[in-house]
Amino acid sequence: MTAAAVLVAAGSGQRLGAGQPKAFVRLAGRPLLEWSLDALRTAGFDDIVVALPPGFVAPSGCRGVTGGATRSESVRLALAACPAGDAVVVHDAARALVPPALFEQTLAALADADAAIAAAPMTDTVKEADSSRLVAATLDRSRLWLVQTPQAFRRDVLERALDVPAAVLAEATDDASLVERAGGRVRVVESSAENFKVTTPYDFKVAELLLRERQPC
Ligand code: CTP
Ligand code: MG
Repeated sequence: MTAAAVLVAAGSGQRLGAGQPKAFVRLAGRPLLEWSLDALRTAGFDDIVVALPPGFVAPSGCRGVTGGATRSESVRLALAACPAGDAVVVHDAARALVPPALFEQTLAALADADAAIAAAPMTDTVKEADSSRLVAATLDRSRLWLVQTPQAFRRDVLERALDVPAAVLAEATDDASLVERAGGRVRVVESSAENFKVTTPYDFKVAELLLRERQPC
C-alpha cells in the first residue's frame, strides 16, 4: 500500500495565545511542527504535504500548501496536493509527541476498514448533565475513546468524505466523522495520553518538559 502524509499546521493557535501561528512557536528549541515532521520521517514517509498559514514557507523536504479557514478545509487543500496513492495519513502538527510507530499502526488497521484513528481510553468517569448541570447519566466508560491523530484513510474514501458543503466541513472536528457521516467503517487504534494535542499554555509547558527529557544534555 502506498501512503502519503498530510500534516495540518495552518491554524492560528488562538488558545495558546503566543502571538504567532502555533506550528511555528519554538517548542523545546525548534518550531513545533518540526517534531511531528521528524516522527513522519522516522516512520518512513517520503511524500509529506504540509498545510501552512498564509505567508509561511514549508520546511525542507516537504511540499507546502496554504491552508484554509477551517481544519477540514486545510486537510482538503493538502490532500489535493498529495501524489496519487492508495492511502493517506492525516496528522495534527499540534500533536508534537506522536510516537512514530502509530502511523504504521493506523495504516495497518485499514486492512478491514475505510479509516483508522488513534484514540486513548478514558481514565476519568464521564457523566452527562442537563443545562442546569443536574447529572442525567453516568456513561459506560469502556465504550468511550478520546480521539487523536494520526487518522489513516483509504484515499478515495477521504476524498469523497471531504466533498461536502463548506458548512459541513466547518462543523467537523476530525476527518473520521466525515467518513462516519458517509456510512464508512472507522476502526479505533489504541494510543496513549502522551499523544496529546498542544492546545493551551499548560499543554505547551508539559510538552516542553517531555521533549527536553528526550534530548541529550
Ligand atoms: N489547523 C489547520 N487549519 C485550520 C485550523 C487548524 O491546519 N484552519 C491545524 C492546526 O494547525 C493544528 C490542528 O489543525 O495542527 C489542530 O487544530 P487546533 O489544535 O485547534 O489548532 P489551532 O486551530 O491553531 O488552535 P486554536 O483552535 O486554539 O486557534
Ligand atoms: Mg482550532
